[in-house]
Amino acid sequence: MELKSISCAFEDLDLLMLKDAVKSKYKGSVPRCYLHSYGCQQNVSDGEKLKGMIVKSGFSLTDDEASADLIVINTCAVRENAHERVFGRLGELGHLKKNNSELIICVCGCMVQQEHIAEKIKKTYPFVSLVFGTFAYSDFYRMLREVIMSGKRVFNIEEKKSEIIENMPAERSSSIRAYVSVMYGCNNFCTYCIVPYVRGRERSRPIDSVVDEVKGLVNDGYKEITLLGQNVNSYAYGFPKLLKRLNDIEGDFWIRFMSSHPKDATKELIDTILDCDKVCSHLHLPVQSGNDEILSKMNRRYSVEKYLEIVRYARSRCKDFSFSTDIIVGFPGESYEQFCDTKKLLEKVKYDNVYSFVYSKREGTKAAELEDNISVKQKGLWLRELLIMQREITEKWLSRFVGKTLRILAEDNGKKEGTLSGHSYENIIVEFVGEKKLIGSFVNIKITKALNWALIGEIV
Ligand code: SAH
Ligand code: SF4
Ligand code: F3S
Repeated sequence: MELKSISCAFEDLDLLMLKDAVKSKYKGSVPRCYLHSYGCQQNVSDGEKLKGMIVKSGFSLTDDEASADLIVINTCAVRENAHERVFGRLGELGHLKKNNSELIICVCGCMVQQEHIAEKIKKTYPFVSLVFGTFAYSDFYRMLREVIMSGKRVFNIEEKKSEIIENMPAERSSSIRAYVSVMYGCNNFCTYCIVPYVRGRERSRPIDSVVDEVKGLVNDGYKEITLLGQNVNSYAYGFPKLLKRLNDIEGDFWIRFMSSHPKDATKELIDTILDCDKVCSHLHLPVQSGNDEILSKMNRRYSVEKYLEIVRYARSRCKDFSFSTDIIVGFPGESYEQFCDTKKLLEKVKYDNVYSFVYSKREGTKAAELEDNISVKQKGLWLRELLIMQREITEKWLSRFVGKTLRILAEDNGKKEGTLSGHSYENIIVEFVGEKKLIGSFVNIKITKALNWALIGEIV
């Protein structure tokens, strides 16, 4: 306890010193920061916390990169195209730096946690002043101050064992839906995946900290809380227990979460989702492949049959229970027949949403030792085949809701003029005619039509 308060005092000191540095560099005017996060919700959530720290240091936030004094690119490493996007972006930022030598450019997050990438930035992008990985947030104030005061480049990608920082400020992009990380890191080492290497081992936040944060958000008017973790089912203090505690918080709000690893998804989890009225009846359960041999090569540690058992159990208790998933096509050595097993699985489960990706070789993972023998063209064709098939499945699945009334959280403007859009309790996108003032409230919508990506309805 005492140790914690000492570390807080140091953080406060770092912040005070950074604020001074900012004031003297920008001579009392408020400098602007542009921050962009790539990648998953966890990364977006980290980006919101960084924004919180940046605002505390005396910057304002801007969406206009060109007029910013500080640009932060929060990166993802999960597939090669995520890397390519960042390098493309850095090329553009080089031009901005030429026009404004005072501009501070920072690159952080999963991609630079890899040593070879940090090295590449050091050598090839001399205009990047600050580079830090996923373990260095607690050091952010000190690092930024050093860049401002000394003008030197700062690199920090040291991996720390067990750090979780509580009570970080956050500048959230929405005032309706909020992300709350319940755990960090991953222990699963699926053979294709870089995440365990760039995010370290699993660390869970204490139940009470999560409950307190969610209570605060509900008090502030948030209507939907999404709990985040690479595999929430291995939350150290019991995920169903956490869900029950959160469900007991007073107020009209919804709880969602992601992701769940199928090897740890239990009937108890399904029962908890269905018994807790605030926990939405939807499970994002990434299956990756519908073939046991490929699943084993991926080190996923479940069989197609075990996966289907969970789906059947959920649907036996609630026939509208909704599932979404992630699929990888073109894993090394995958045959067309094995790919077809994935298509068969999609037909059986009837997901309402499928996120599919072509396999991308990640340096340093186990699968990178296997020959990536399926051509880019072939992977692309399989992906297309899957998408076309899934669109039909989605439309058919969604048509079961036509004529029913669903509860929706109105979140934003819809695609068509005059419409609003939101997600239902089952996590399905619903568009309807409605006034803007409804954004942020729950509405009951009678469904009139099913499309292959959303439902259309009218306010009851
Ligand atoms: N922890 C989450 C997934 C995080 S990454 C989980 O296990 O569900 C999100 C998705 O990216 C994965 O589910 C997988 O489908 C995809 N992915 C991860 N590594 C990949 C790679 N090397 N190539 C292609 N897709 C990948
Ligand atoms: Fe990657 Fe597997 Fe961990 Fe998900 S569970 S982050 S896919 S290693
Ligand atoms: Fe997320 Fe990409 Fe990192 S998916 S955990 S931001 S590698």
